[in-house]
Amino acid sequence: MTLTTIIPDAVEQTEKVLYNHVCATLSELDMEVVRNVPPGGNWMNLPETTVAKSARLTQIKKSGGRTTYYGRLNGTMPSYTVNTYFNRPGNGTFIHPLQDRLISMREAARLQSFPDHYRFRGSLSSRYKQIGNAVPPLLARSIGTMIRKGLGIDLFCGAGGLSEGLEQAGHKIILASDSNPHMCETYRSNNPKTKVIQTDINKSEDANILLENIESELQGRTLKLLAGGPPCQGFSTAGKWNPNDVRNSLLFKTLDFVRALEPEYVLLENVPGIRSMQKGKLLKSLIESLEAEEYTTQIYILKAEQFGVPQRRRRVFIVANRIGISIRDPDVRLSSIARGKTRYDAHIDVDGLPPPVTVSEAISDLPVITSGEGHDVVEYETKWLNSDYQRLMRGMISFKDFFGKRTE
Ligand SMILES: C[S@@+](CC[C@H](N)C(=O)[O-])C[C@H]1O[C@@H](n2cnc3c(N)ncnc32)[C@H](O)[C@@H]1O
Repeated sequence: MTLTTIIPDAVEQTEKVLYNHVCATLSELDMEVVRNVPPGGNWMNLPETTVAKSARLTQIKKSGGRTTYYGRLNGTMPSYTVNTYFNRPGNGTFIHPLQDRLISMREAARLQSFPDHYRFRGSLSSRYKQIGNAVPPLLARSIGTMIRKGLGIDLFCGAGGLSEGLEQAGHKIILASDSNPHMCETYRSNNPKTKVIQTDINKSEDANILLENIESELQGRTLKLLAGGPPCQGFSTAGKWNPNDVRNSLLFKTLDFVRALEPEYVLLENVPGIRSMQKGKLLKSLIESLEAEEYTTQIYILKAEQFGVPQRRRRVFIVANRIGISIRDPDVRLSSIARGKTRYDAHIDVDGLPPPVTVSEAISDLPVITSGEGHDVVEYETKWLNSDYQRLMRGMISFKDFFGKRTE
């Protein structure tokens, strides 16, 4: 795959540019799969002749597999969760609703609600991770709106989805850190005013340097918000409770920064599975540790599609404050998707709210490309626009106008 810049740098950053519209190359067998799955369909739609060519498909067909595997998006609904594997058809629902290919990085970024000016950098494989691991900015924005604005830091910043949403809500992120150089590169290029530090928080020397940098960046000013999405790998839902494992986890190392910096608010994002990790003891212990530092803690499980994100994604937000207040729930703006017995039963909840944003509203304006093709920088024509969500992503209408128009 070639990543050709077909627009000279001088005209970049204009409304005519589209970044990262590149999709993965597929094998001949994967292409056969893609051609055989209809919109809204999955591996169950594949003919026996195709299934027989793949050991994995044969296994799935025999013993059952998730109905999201080898899925093709349905343009009339929000997408399923965009994970880090949208360069493979077998790990989710990532086939374009109308074209015989996987979604491009820009399409995945649109489904994650990253604005179009946000450009992902670094290696190709890292960019899939950057997009799939991010907190959707519109979801982060909704929760950020509930927290008093001021100076903030973002630990485990990744590509910057959480920060982008918090900035949109009015927070000023003065410093961000991540151990991965590609994540830092993307974060830095999109947030030139924020100090970005590449640090491995597992190493106590690195963590101390990070702390010194935060203090020097603050220059005695109050830290309003410590935000972060620490990974929780290594903890299973069963698993034996080992206090040493817990103390050494990145989740609990984040608490060392809380103790040292005493921010007014703490915002931690994680997967819903955190509630059952170590039979619920992990989350309980985290809350107790925050309470021991005199933080009042609240937990939200939010559905991304209710906040304007064209995607079914559930995330847990732990919000703690040490000013003794109770934080209001974020304003739910759109209907949610209710799960039926199978994916075919999934339906929009009848709750009097406007419908969630669909895949088609999110990506139908983006240029047609063939599998394995696309370019990192291409020209964009505003005459292609055909939804308010696309106008919002292109920065042509405000967040307020978008929801105002949708409610009308
Ligand atoms: C879930 S992602 C964060 C996504 C980010 N909040 C966003 O919205 O884009 C977790 C991040 O933690 C980083 N990370 C993992 N281990 C780390 C460590 N030991 N020290 C610092 N960062 C680490 C990873 O590189 C990854 O970018």
